[in-house]
Amino acid sequence: MSRFLAFSLLAILAACGSKFDGKPPGAEKSGKLPAVLTRDEAMKLASLGNCVSCHKMDDRLAGPGWREVGVRYGSDSKAAPLISSHIREGGTFGWNMGYMPARGGGALTDSQIDALAQYIATLH
Ligand code: HEC
Repeated sequence: MSRFLAFSLLAILAACGSKFDGKPPGAEKSGKLPAVLTRDEAMKLASLGNCVSCHKMDDRLAGPGWREVGVRYGSDSKAAPLISSHIREGGTFGWNMGYMPARGGGALTDSQIDALAQYIATLH
């Protein structure tokens, strides 16, 4: 009986251990991104998606600096979804800097683009 109890306790501890390992539940399995990226995470996505060949955070390159994009949208509550659709569809958005290819010609997923757009919208 005591052996059984000890075993049960161990089993319960093990179960708790896997639950409270500091990561949000399902974070690894779903591959979901956190709602708001850090600057480093945003730059990693930007490299992955080939955005960095035309964009920087604080200065212009072929396209506008992302900080000036964030400043232009200000605290518009629809900024993030609008920026996201611009990135997905490409085109011109009034910067007079030329034409942006859809998704920058890269292969970021919709949720990665959403996360980046949300980050850019906070830059003001
Ligand atoms: C080949 C160059 C190029 C690449 C690659 C590129 N962009 Fe752009 N991007 C541009 C240009 C040019 C503009 C400005 C268009 C204009 O003049 O209105 C722009 C504009 C933007 C804007 C401003 C949108 C707005 O609503 O004002 C955002 C945000 C943006 N790009 C994000 C991205 C992201 C994210 C990626 C990577 C997935 C990316 N871009 C890849 C050239 C590029």
